[in-house]
This record gives sequence, structure tokens and C-alpha cells, in this order.
Amino acid sequence: MKKIIILTGTSRGLGAALAEQVVRAPTEARDLATTHIVTLARQHSEALERLAQAHDTKLTQIVADLNDPAAIVEAGKQLYALTTGVECVRMIHNAGVVTPIAQSRDLTDLLAINQAFQINITAPIYLTAQVLSASAQTADRRIMLISSGAGRSPSSGWGVYCATKAAMDRYAECAQLDEGARARIVSMAPGVVDTGMQETIRATPKSALPSLERFVDFHQNKQLASPEDVARRLLLALESDDFGKITIDDIRQHTFTS
Ligand SMILES: NC(=O)c1ccc[n+]([C@@H]2O[C@H](COP(=O)([O-])OP(=O)(O)OC[C@H]3O[C@@H](n4cnc5c(N)ncnc54)[C@H](OP(=O)(O)O)[C@@H]3O)[C@@H](O)[C@H]2O)c1
Repeated sequence: MKKIIILTGTSRGLGAALAEQVVRAPTEARDLATTHIVTLARQHSEALERLAQAHDTKLTQIVADLNDPAAIVEAGKQLYALTTGVECVRMIHNAGVVTPIAQSRDLTDLLAINQAFQINITAPIYLTAQVLSASAQTADRRIMLISSGAGRSPSSGWGVYCATKAAMDRYAECAQLDEGARARIVSMAPGVVDTGMQETIRATPKSALPSLERFVDFHQNKQLASPEDVARRLLLALESDDFGKITIDDIRQHTFTS
């Protein structure tokens, strides 16, 4: 069966762990000859290319800056072409930004606000449309949007981030209504993960983010999940029979035996 696995934001953090695990997946987990892994990142990764070669994996790297609308359209064209005729579709929208972090009265950088919405929700909506329309005849289609607890409860200083992730949750519900049984679409919170995004949060002044200490404590008390473990759990959830039964989901609610 021809299968495509599309991952965004694979340069570092959770996305890098997802890409590495998918490329390294043991042969019993996928048919090497027919699985095509497609990554989207701002830069080509030589390391991922070498890893794919070492594991005999078919890999296409789309280089696109999701800050750039023309790059999103071009990436959409490539995804449309790559997805056409495929019998099994997996897509994880992982690329995201937590900035701008500021009190509402200070959210005056229009470009930064627009970019956060464009990366976190506009690009996923557009790229999902390309993949869904290219694969309209495909029975097995699963899309995971990496959301956040921030989309489900408010935090002072996170007006933009919370709004983009809340939008992601509601979009997933609408898209699932649109597609019905033709696709499984899930907005998945990954928990608190030890990545560059957490470093960005910890480097924010308390005046902008009053809950700063909570994130410093997570780090100091070693309560951050590793990107590798979260990636492993997300991939297990994506392939589970139950995937899609809960549209607004949280990986911390899942237990896996392996
Ligand atoms: N870490 C957490 O605790 C946590 C909690 C809840 C939800 N999440 C969500 O999990 C996802 C992954 O986050 P992370 O923690 O791994 O963050 P991260 O370490 O900051 O990585 C973010 C990824 O998104 C990519 N990205 C950012 N802007 C981009 C752009 N303009 N075009 C293309 N790619 C872009 C980055 O690429 P570059 O290297 O090119 O910047 C990077 O690969 C995000 O959606 C985030 O909101 C994270």
C-alpha cells in the first residue's frame, strides 16, 4: 500500500524527534518500499537525509518558511502532487511558535501577531486542504494537529498563542464535521515538552508572563517530557484504532503498553 507521512516543523524539538522516529521505524512497522516520508522545514537537513539513506527510507524534504504566504502555496502544490494517488495518508502539523508573549496592552506588533496565526493555524488549514483534496478517494486518512493546553485554558501573556491553539481545536472539529467518515482529524495537546519552545518561555520577562515561575519549576524539577517520548506516544496514537474518536485530545490521557 502506498503510504505518505507528512510532518511539519522537523528542524528541532518535537518535530525533529517525530521525523527521526518515522525514518528509523522498524520494517515491521511500515513497508519500506511503499512509505514516503515528507518533511516541511525552513532548511534542508543533511542529517535527516543521511539517516533516511541509512534506513533505506524514501524521504522528500520540502523547504518552506511558513512566515511566507507564497511558500505556503508552493508547499501546498508539492503536497498535493505527492499525495495524489496515495492509499494511506498521515499528516502531523507540528510547526509552531509561542511568540509574541506579551500582555494584551502590549500586543502591538502586527507582523508578529499575523505570523503567529499564519504559522500556527493558517498554514495548517491551507496545507490540510491540499492534502484532503488530493486524497479525496483515499479511505485511510489521519491528520493530527499539535495543539496545546494553552488552547483550552487561558494564560496571562499568551493572548496570541492561546488564540491560535484554540482556533486549531475548533478548526479540527469543523474539518471533522466536513469530512465525516472520510478522514480522522485530531487536535492533540502534547503536554509540556523539553524543547526550544520551553527555553523561549523561560527567557520571557515575568512582566509579560506572570506564570513564568511555573515553567521555571517544571524545568528545575525535571517535569518536562522528553521530545523523544512524546513523539513515540504521538505516533502510537496516530496509528491506534481509536484515533479520531476524540477530536480534541491530549496525549497525556493515553496509555500505551509498548
Ligand atoms: N514544548 C512544549 O511544551 C509544547 C507544549 C504544547 C504544545 N507544543 C506545540 O508543539 C509543537 C512543537 O513545538 P516544540 O516545543 O517542538 O517547539 P520548537 O522547539 O520551538 O520547534 C518549533 C518547530 O516549528 C518550526 N517553525 C517555527 N516557525 C516556522 C516557520 N516560519 N516555518 C517553518 N517551520 C517553522 C521550527 O523551525 P525553525 O527551526 O526553522 O524555527 C521548529 O522546527 C508546536 O506546535 C507547539 O506549539 C509544545
